Amino acid sequence: MIMTINEIEHSVFAEIHNTHTAKELEEVRARYLGRKGTLTSVLRGLAELSLEDRREIGPRAQALRDRIEEACEDRLQDFEATSETFFDVSFPGKKITVGHHNPLSLLIQDTEDIFLSLGFSVVDGPEVETEFNNFDALNIPANHPAREMWDTFWLKRAHNTEPRKLLRTHTSPVQIRYMQTHEPPFRIIVPGTTYRYEATDARHEMQFSQIEGLAVGETVTLANFKSIITAFFSRLFAQKVEIRLRPSYFPFVEPGVEVDATCPRCHKRGCELCTFTGWLELGGAGMVHPHVFDAVGYNPNTIQGFAFGVGAERLAMIKYGIPDIRLFRSSDLRFIQQF
Ligand code: PHE
Repeated sequence: MIMTINEIEHSVFAEIHNTHTAKELEEVRARYLGRKGTLTSVLRGLAELSLEDRREIGPRAQALRDRIEEACEDRLQDFEATSETFFDVSFPGKKITVGHHNPLSLLIQDTEDIFLSLGFSVVDGPEVETEFNNFDALNIPANHPAREMWDTFWLKRAHNTEPRKLLRTHTSPVQIRYMQTHEPPFRIIVPGTTYRYEATDARHEMQFSQIEGLAVGETVTLANFKSIITAFFSRLFAQKVEIRLRPSYFPFVEPGVEVDATCPRCHKRGCELCTFTGWLELGGAGMVHPHVFDAVGYNPNTIQGFAFGVGAERLAMIKYGIPDIRLFRSSDLRFIQQF
């Protein structure tokens, strides 16, 4: 029996090593460890041996069995590593799922690209603002009826001697922040989230986004604004757009205007989108009010500029044909996956 164990030990490892496929390897394994394998019969025969012989041969036979198993295992891994196993190139692949940009992000990216190419910088500011930046410095004093233009989310104060804070109702406070820390001339846009304490419907959300613009220097005019905004809408909607400025009121500009553009869907012929007027109201604008320059320490006698604000969701709704503003933040994948 010792003889058999020695013989097995002598040949088995070379045989394993000389196999080239999993099938060959399995044959070798079966010859030694299978039901009728040589080592298997040695192990079975142990029972018939004397106690003394069993003590000597038993552990050796078992150790050999373990080593053979291990060698087979290693050899199998060699085959896998050298990819001698079959690879089916026609096997269907796993579907890779990719994320989608929210159309609001796409709109803001497009807007930034266009304004960067027109010499503007992109700037941002905080969503929690001071009453001063959101209102007072923009020529909207406390108790002035103009404050009613913006229904405001006020934040709780620990004590009523603290300055009041709010969720910014527009991106205009970033005008104040930027002018306090920079000298003219400059041109900036400010895309950002804004909040209003309002009832929600297909065209209104409490949380929405604006894109503010501000250009300041010694010779900046409203005509400059008209040409810049014409270029912007024409590029955004990929067609020639006409602009119409109508007199309007915002406390922080004088004169103030409402900005209309020709409807990019019907080209002025009249359709549902423009309620058959041929024009869309896209934002507010005007020449920066001297009181605003006073508030940031600029000299209103030598410095002038234009400011504008447009609703980002509104532009995205027009550009992509989105019927309801509430879809943007609905987290509905059926909506997002279309972009
Ligand atoms: N901040 C104004 C609003 O939210 C828009 C605006 C910006 C108007 C700049 C004029 C100039 O309604």
